[in-house]
Amino acid sequence: MDDTKDAITYLEKLFEKDADGHGTDHALRVLGNAMRIAEREKCDLQVVKLAALLHDADDHKLFQTKNNENARKYLAEHGVDEEKTERIIEAINSVSFSKNGSNKPKTVEGRIVQDADRLDAMGAVGVARTFAYGGSRGRSLQESIAHFHEKLLLLYGLMNTETGRLLARERHEFLLTFLKEWERETTAVTPGKPCFIPAIDQDAAILALKKREKDLVKYQWIMEKFAAGDCGAEFRRKYCGFYRVRRDQAWQREYFGLMDRYAKRKGVAFGEILLRLWQKTGRLECSFASKMLATLDDSMPIWDGRVLSALSLKLTGKTPEEKLSNAVLLYERIVSWYGEFQKTEQAFEMVRRFDETFPGLSEISSVKKIDFFLWAGKG
Ligand SMILES: [Fe+2]
Repeated sequence: MDDTKDAITYLEKLFEKDADGHGTDHALRVLGNAMRIAEREKCDLQVVKLAALLHDADDHKLFQTKNNENARKYLAEHGVDEEKTERIIEAINSVSFSKNGSNKPKTVEGRIVQDADRLDAMGAVGVARTFAYGGSRGRSLQESIAHFHEKLLLLYGLMNTETGRLLARERHEFLLTFLKEWERETTAVTPGKPCFIPAIDQDAAILALKKREKDLVKYQWIMEKFAAGDCGAEFRRKYCGFYRVRRDQAWQREYFGLMDRYAKRKGVAFGEILLRLWQKTGRLECSFASKMLATLDDSMPIWDGRVLSALSLKLTGKTPEEKLSNAVLLYERIVSWYGEFQKTEQAFEMVRRFDETFPGLSEISSVKKIDFFLWAGKG
C-alpha cells in the first residue's frame, strides 16, 4: 500500500477549496519534516507517516467533523487496524497548538509530528503561510504580524525533539530577521515625524563624564579583553562591576557561559539571547541581554529606559512569552532610534566632543559614545 500517494489523493479532495496554507502541500512538508526527525527517534514509522499526512484532515478551522471522522475514514478504507488507528488519532490530536498550547504529546510519534507541524509554521514557509491565512480571514498585514508574536516566535522554545530543535533554530532566526526588516521598513523616518532628540546639556554631560573617566576606561578594558578572547575571572568581575550585575553565581555562570558560546558565532540576535537567558535563568533580562549583545557587537545599543520612555514605549504582555516577543520589537525600536539619531547634528557633536575630551578612547563605537552621553545626562 502506498500510503503517501493514496493519502495525497484523499487530502486533495478534502482540501479542494483550501488556499490558506493548510493544504496538501503543507501535509507533504510536515511529512518530510517528520521523516527527518523520525530518523533519530525510536518510533513507529507508519504511525508517524500517517499522522503527519492526516494531521489536518479534521482541522476545526476547515472542517466541522467530529471524532476525527475524515482521518478515521481514510484509515478504515486502508485496512489500518484498530489499535494502530487509535495511536495515529492520538498523535493527530496532540499536535494542535490551539488545543494543546505548551503541553507535550504523550507519545513519541505525537511529539515528532507536533515538531514537524511547528517547523512548517516557521521560517520562510511560516511567513508565507501566516499572510496567506491572514488574508483568507480578511486580516490586515499588521494583524498577521501580531500572530508572529502571539505564536510563531514561541515555537522554537517549545520543540520536543533534539532534531526538531536543530531544524527550528535557523527558521526561528529567519523569523526574527524578517520582523527586524519589517520593523525597519515600517518605522523608518516618516516624513514630518522628527527623530526624538534627548534634552542633554552637553557641557554638563562632558563634565560628568570626566568625573567618571575611570568607568570609560573600564569599558574600554572590557571590550579589549573580550576581543582578545580573554574572558576569565577578572573579565567577569569587571563586567559585573561596570554593568551592575547583581545576580547570584548560578545566574552568572549561565550568563557568561552563553556569552562564551556566542563569542564564537557571528550575527546573534537580541531575541535569541533574551530567549536563551529566559530558558536558562527563568528571568526576562532585557537589559542584560542587550549588554551581552553590545559586548559581542559594539554597534548595538543598550536597552535604555530613557530612550524607551522618550519614545513612549513600554514593555507590555501578560505572559513571559508575550513580553519576550514584545521586548524584541521594542529593542528594534531602540536600534532604529540610534540609527536615526546618529544622523543628527546633536549626535555628531556628542561624538566630536567625546573624542576631543578623551582622545585615548576614540576607538569606542559612536553608539556607545552616545550611550555614555545619555548615561551622563541622567538626572
Ligand atoms: Fe498543520
